[in-house]
Amino acid sequence: MLLNSALFVVGCLLSSSVAQKKFNSKHLPNYISACRVGSDLSDCIVKHARASIPQLSKGDPAFGSPSLNPWVLEKIELNPSSQLKLLFTDCKIYGLNNAILKDAKIDFDKKHIDLVVYIEQIKLDSHYNMDGQLLVLPIKGDGKTNLEFGDCTFNYSFDYDLITRKDGKQYITNIRPDISFKINKAHFNFENLFNGNKQLGDNINNVLNDNPQDAVTELGPAFSNVINLAATTIIRAYLMVVPFDELFLH
Ligand SMILES: *[C@@H]1O[C@H](CO)[C@@H](O)[C@H](O)[C@H]1NC(C)=O
Repeated sequence: MLLNSALFVVGCLLSSSVAQKKFNSKHLPNYISACRVGSDLSDCIVKHARASIPQLSKGDPAFGSPSLNPWVLEKIELNPSSQLKLLFTDCKIYGLNNAILKDAKIDFDKKHIDLVVYIEQIKLDSHYNMDGQLLVLPIKGDGKTNLEFGDCTFNYSFDYDLITRKDGKQYITNIRPDISFKINKAHFNFENLFNGNKQLGDNINNVLNDNPQDAVTELGPAFSNVINLAATTIIRAYLMVVPFDELFLH
């Protein structure tokens, strides 16, 4: 049930706004090099990603790709469980620009791509509003928060379709992503819990930080949806507008 947690993001970079625009074919930008299809395709993609991510994470208006340093979102609404409502506003997410692609597997027949992404540290600075239960404790608050997740591995995969457009070329379309994650470290700091009752607030933060894996089990699936959104936003920005035979050379 946790994995069904809903995520709604209202930001200036919602990928749907890209989809609604008139289709505009593009070549790969100079900071992304294509790979040749063959036995070393995975190695090539991993190597090229390492070279591309620093530039790619600055964002590129030509592709509608957002800056990831930090990634700014107006609002993240999470329902990590039926017992908890959690709203983040004015969000700055740091660390995505240090993502490392560890592995990439492409099944051209099944039209399926598997990526393994490692991020050493992800930090969220934002305002939060929370009400409900976390780790079976009642929790309620409204204030500033900074959260840190460390040693994170995300298995991000997606199915896609190919479409032939008016120029006669094939393009990726209809990307259907999925994500699983392993987060080894976490640190939580929610300010102004319980209307600023310091003792109750400190208690909650201590319980979360003394049981980071339990907290990650409850909150992680919701947060991994944020990573899913970041990855999907970037992937859509580039892979859907460049002809397939320019992404994967024969
Ligand atoms: C990610 O995929 C690898 C295999 O590619 C697997 O060994 C690992 O357990 C997966 N991790 C997660 C968090 O799903």
